[in-house]
Amino acid sequence: MSQKTIHSTIHVDTLNSGYVNSHILFDVDFDAKEKEITVVVGPNGSGKSTLLKSIFGLCTVYSGEISYNGEKITGLAPHKVARKKIAYLPQMNNVFSNLTIKENLIMASYTLNSKLVSQRIPEIFETFPILKEFEKSKSNTLSGGERQMLAMGMALIRQPNVMLFDEPTASLSPKLANEVLSKIKQLRDDFGITIILVEQNVKRALALGDFVYLFANGKGVFKGKPDELLNHPELGKLYLGIS
Ligand SMILES: Nc1ncnc2c1ncn2[C@@H]1O[C@H](COP(=O)(O)OP(=O)(O)OP(=O)(O)O)[C@@H](O)[C@H]1O
Ligand SMILES: [Mg+2]
Repeated sequence: MSQKTIHSTIHVDTLNSGYVNSHILFDVDFDAKEKEITVVVGPNGSGKSTLLKSIFGLCTVYSGEISYNGEKITGLAPHKVARKKIAYLPQMNNVFSNLTIKENLIMASYTLNSKLVSQRIPEIFETFPILKEFEKSKSNTLSGGERQMLAMGMALIRQPNVMLFDEPTASLSPKLANEVLSKIKQLRDDFGITIILVEQNVKRALALGDFVYLFANGKGVFKGKPDELLNHPELGKLYLGIS
């Protein structure tokens, strides 16, 4: 599948956001560069998911700005953000479990014309051969890793420029987690997609990330290259259990 991406950079400037009256993120600055994987790590409740949800228009923004390729998207409704070719993959409930794999892909591409859909489904199967194998099976028969591949396929069929992943490897075995992460790497390397990856598997995520942010208590407490975080004398130990 070929894909043209020009800038696809997400820029977050002094963001204060949360859920109606619950202020969760405080003065967050964040950048995801074009065609890079930007990893977000941090303890439970530190605000990682809230950052993704804020970008995708699912949170209340009190102040600050979010932009995409220089265009302000702060406070835009989720369907409008999606139309700008930003895909959000929440951790849970990301496929229709009573539909087959193929029906899920068709469902995900309802905004595309049918000619495009019939052209792109084989491309998705090429990227995720496992989906082709189970094409006619209900998606509730898939393993956790396969379901995650389906969710990725459903996002990819709309040819996004940016993909926001919220813990795509949660509750997967180490082997499946590695498969999912190597697919994410492929999305960057082969399709030039800009990726924001929230991950609990810190070491694995840092191995493929280009840049990393560490969150704690709703604030960014570190940003830099993965190596810098891994070799930091205190932060890894303090927040991430890296010794
Ligand atoms: N819908 C909501 N309404 C109010 N508060 C919420 C809501 N969702 C999350 N929060 C709160 O926001 C804070 C940050 O949550 P968030 O889900 O962003 O953390 P996280 O870093 O993704 O954690 P985890 O690693 O457990 O997924 C938590 O204190 C949480 O209780
Ligand atoms: Mg979360």
